[in-house]
This record gives sequence, C-alpha cells and structure tokens, in this order.
Amino acid sequence: MKIIRKAVIPVAGLGTRFLPATKAIPKEMLTIVDRPTIQYIVEEAVASGIEQIILVTSAGKSAIENHFDYDFQLDTILKERNKVLLREELRHISNLIDVTSVRQKEPLGLGHAILMARNVVGDEPFFVLLGDDLVLSKIACCKQMINLYEQVGSSIVAVRRVPEQETHQYGIVEGEESEFERAHRITRMIEKPAPGTSNSDMAIIGRYLLMPEIFDLLEKTTPGHGGEIQLTDALQAMSKRQGMFAYEFEGSRYDAGDKLGYLKAVVDFALMHQQLGPAFREYLESVCKQLPEE
Ligand code: UTP
Repeated sequence: MKIIRKAVIPVAGLGTRFLPATKAIPKEMLTIVDRPTIQYIVEEAVASGIEQIILVTSAGKSAIENHFDYDFQLDTILKERNKVLLREELRHISNLIDVTSVRQKEPLGLGHAILMARNVVGDEPFFVLLGDDLVLSKIACCKQMINLYEQVGSSIVAVRRVPEQETHQYGIVEGEESEFERAHRITRMIEKPAPGTSNSDMAIIGRYLLMPEIFDLLEKTTPGHGGEIQLTDALQAMSKRQGMFAYEFEGSRYDAGDKLGYLKAVVDFALMHQQLGPAFREYLESVCKQLPEE
C-alpha cells in the first residue's frame, strides 16, 4: 500500500459568500484568532504526516503563497530588533512543509481545480483539503482517515450528519454499514440533491483521500451542478469502479468560507486557545449574562 505524502489544497474559488471582505483578501487568509484559516489546514496536513502541499491558486491569491514563504527582509528587521519569539514563529511557518503551487486559470469548479494538480501529484494516492473547511479534533482529521485507509486501501471521503433541510447544500453520500468503525461503503453520491431525491443525511466535508485514478475520471467529467466540473460526479464514477468509503470523522467542522461558520470557528478556536482561552471564556460568560432580549 502506497503511503500518502501529498495534499492538494484548492484555493482558486471566488469566495463570493464572504464579499466584500474577500474582494482583495483571499478567504483562506481571513484570521481565526491569531493565524489565517489556511495555516490551520496546512498544520492538519503536517500533523497527519503529509510531506508536500500543492496549492491550486488563481490571480489575487499570492498572499497565501507569501504566508508560507521565507521573508528575508522581515527576518533581518526582527533580528535587528531582537524579536526572538516572533522570528521563531515566522521561521516555523516557512519551515512547516514544502509548498508548491499550480494555477487554475478559470474557476471552472472544484473538480477542475484538482485536475490542475495532476502533474505534481503523479501516480500516487493523495489528500484534498478544502482551503476554507476547518476541523477541530483531538486527532487530525486526515490522520483519522489514514488510519482507515491502512485497513481498507481505497479512497475515503470524510462525512458528517446534517439536518434533512440542509442536505441540498452538500455533496451527499448514500452507503451501507461496514465492518470498519465509523465507515460506510458508498453506494451513491449526489452533488446538492434536490429535496426528496436522497434519504441520506451524510454530507461530504472538505477532506478527501483519493486514488490517482480520479484524474482520468475528472478528465471525462462534464460540467454538472451550477455548470461547474464537480468533484462529486467523478467520485461517484470512481465509487462504482473501485469502491469507496465514507468516514464519520471525530471532531467539529466549520465552513470558514461562510460568514456564520466563520464566526463559530473564531469563538470555538478562541475558547481552545492556550493563552487567550481562559480570558475569552470569562468575557463570553459576562456577555451572555448581559445579552439583551431580541
Ligand atoms: P466553494 O464552494 O467554497 O466556492 O469551493 P468559492 O468560489 O471558493 O466560494 P463561494 O461559494 O463563491 O463563496 C470549495 C473549495 O474549492 C475551491 C475553493 O477555493 C474552495 O476551497 N475552488 C472552487 C477552486 O479552487 N476552484 C473552483 O473553480 C471552485
């Protein structure tokens, strides 16, 4: 079984749900407490043993590449000013992992974005982590998926249960119970099903462990929901060919590309923060006591 060394993070989307904040700043660079969203995602990959990140970028996203780069000028200034801890923190970020980027010239959909990484990924299994999907968990979500992969040896998508009235907002997976803990054998996948067309509540979140055969299937995928080349359509074809698992990960997931999801992430990550957590909790408790009636 091949080990998973590479992770593709598509960040070429337009981020229209978070306008006007995302007009000039990529949504992946919006701050959750003290670091940009994308850093948490890269740190999850690192904690799972990934060795290379492949960012799929577009015009206007260079801030993301710069964040993980070494800034000689800034480093020199911090050294002159004797800012030891800050210097260490910045060096830690630029030394985290090897970051490569490829371009998606037009936002033709998530499936198309992943196809852009084909040459860099090559012929090996890899992860896809969405650049605005955060997971807070004891064991990194990708690591949990690797643990299952070591038993099943096939593609895996992370899922969570959502209320019935929300299923039309997600890629939905139908499946059967399996002998593996928290894992279901996928029987069907549908991108944003119309109400009443699926009785499953298992929604795909932004973590996928994929076999390289997905690239051939993406090449053949025609535009689907919203006129975009949908990853879910290629996954459905792959689940028929090779079999695939849906994994109910342990942890909480936040859609940080959505305004409410972002606010929830900021609050929960702040409460978990080592230095700021206790003071923030105290503040939240005082705010809750004084909340005015609506
Ligand atoms: P989203 O559905 O969040 O789309 O894409 P978006 O365009 O970024 O944001 P909204 O909906 O307009 O607010 C899920 C992921 O796929 C990437 C996005 O960057 C995000 O990480 N993506 C999407 C691409 O890289 N290219 C695309 O053509 C579409």
